[in-house]
Amino acid sequence: MSISIILLLLIIVVLFENISTFHLPNGLIYNGTIFKSEDYPYVMYLRIFYTPVMKDYTKCTGTLVKKMFILTAAHCCHEKNKSLIHVYQGSPKVNPKIHKVVKMTQHPDYDPIKYPFGPRGDICVLQLEKAFPNIKTFSKIGGSPKDFKKGKLNCTMIGFGQTGDKTTSGESGYIMTNNVAYGPTACKLHETEEIQNSWEQYLCLEPNGYATPCRGDSGGPMICNGMQYGVCSYGYSYTNGPEECGSPGQQEIYSFINAHKRWLNNIIEPKKNKKKKKRSSGNFLKLHPTCMHIILLILLYNIMLTFI
Ligand SMILES: *[C@@H]1O[C@H](CO)[C@@H](O)[C@H](O)[C@H]1NC(C)=O
Ligand SMILES: *[C@@H]1O[C@H](CO)[C@@H](O)[C@H](O)[C@H]1NC(C)=O
Ligand SMILES: *[C@@H]1O[C@H](CO)[C@@H](O)[C@H](O)[C@H]1NC(C)=O
Repeated sequence: MSISIILLLLIIVVLFENISTFHLPNGLIYNGTIFKSEDYPYVMYLRIFYTPVMKDYTKCTGTLVKKMFILTAAHCCHEKNKSLIHVYQGSPKVNPKIHKVVKMTQHPDYDPIKYPFGPRGDICVLQLEKAFPNIKTFSKIGGSPKDFKKGKLNCTMIGFGQTGDKTTSGESGYIMTNNVAYGPTACKLHETEEIQNSWEQYLCLEPNGYATPCRGDSGGPMICNGMQYGVCSYGYSYTNGPEECGSPGQQEIYSFINAHKRWLNNIIEPKKNKKKKKRSSGNFLKLHPTCMHIILLILLYNIMLTFI
C-alpha cells in the first residue's frame, strides 16, 4: 500500500513537472513618479511609426521576457508594420540606440471589431533582430488566480504614457503602486455582459483617485510579488465622468498573463517545450513499460482492496 502511494506521488510529480513549466528563468503613469531604468532594465519604450515616412508615431511600453522577446499589448501591434517599430531600452533619453523587430505575434483572440469594449487576448510578442548585450535581468512572468484568494495584491506599474504634466514629452518612464484585484466582480461595471464574459483575462486596478496608467502605458508591466502578472490593456470611466487619465472614477485593466501562458510559452520557448514533451513521453513509455505495468497493477490491486 505505502509503496504504491509513493509511486503514485512520483507519477504525479513527473506529470506536474512537465505540465507546469511556466517559470521563465530567470506611462508615463499619470501622476506617478519617474522610475529608474537601472532598477528595471527590462522595461522597453516602443515607438511605433504609422508610415514609412517615420514621422507620426504612437508609443507603447514593453518588457524583455527573454533575450530576444518583448511582451506588449495586442492593441499596440494591431495593424502595425513590424519594420516601423523602434525599441529603446529604458527610454530614448536613457539609451538612444534603436533595436529593430523581425517578428510580431499578436494573440489570435484580439479583435477590436468583434469586441470593441472588453478586449480579449490583448497581448503581443515582438521578436528582436539583435539582443541587448547588457541586459541580464528579464521580466519574470508569474502569478495565478490563487494568489488572489486572500484578497488584493499591492502591485507596481511602469509605463511611458502621458503624465499629468503637459510639459513632459513622455520620454521618461513613470512608476506607481496600487492595489490590484482579480475575480468575477473585481472590476467596476463587472455586471456588464462584456466583463462577465472575459473577467478571467483581467486584473483590475483599484481606483485610487489620483494616479492611473494612461495612453502610452499600454503594454507596460504590472509587477506583483516580484513577478510580472499583467500587461497594461485598457481603461474606462465607470461613472459618467470624463474618459480622462487620472480623473476619479476611472477603471484601469491589465491583461492577466496567466490566461495566455500557453500561447506565450509556445512563442518564447518553442524548442524547450517540444523537447520536453518528446523527452518526457519518450522516456516514460520507452524506458519504463514494465515499471508502468507494475504501478498500474499495484494501483488496481489497491483500488480493489479498498472496494472489498
Ligand atoms: C512595412 O514597412 C517597410 C519598410 O518601410 C516596407 O518596405 C513594407 O512594405 C511595409 N509593409 C507593409 C505591409 O506596409
Ligand atoms: C503599496 O506598497 C507601497 C510600498 O511598496 C506603499 O508605498 C503603498 O502605499 C502601497 N499601496 C497600497 C494601496 O497599499
Ligand atoms: C497627483 O497626486 C497628488 C498626490 O501625490 C495629488 O495631491 C494630486 O491631486 C494628484 N493630481 C491629480 C490631477 O490627480
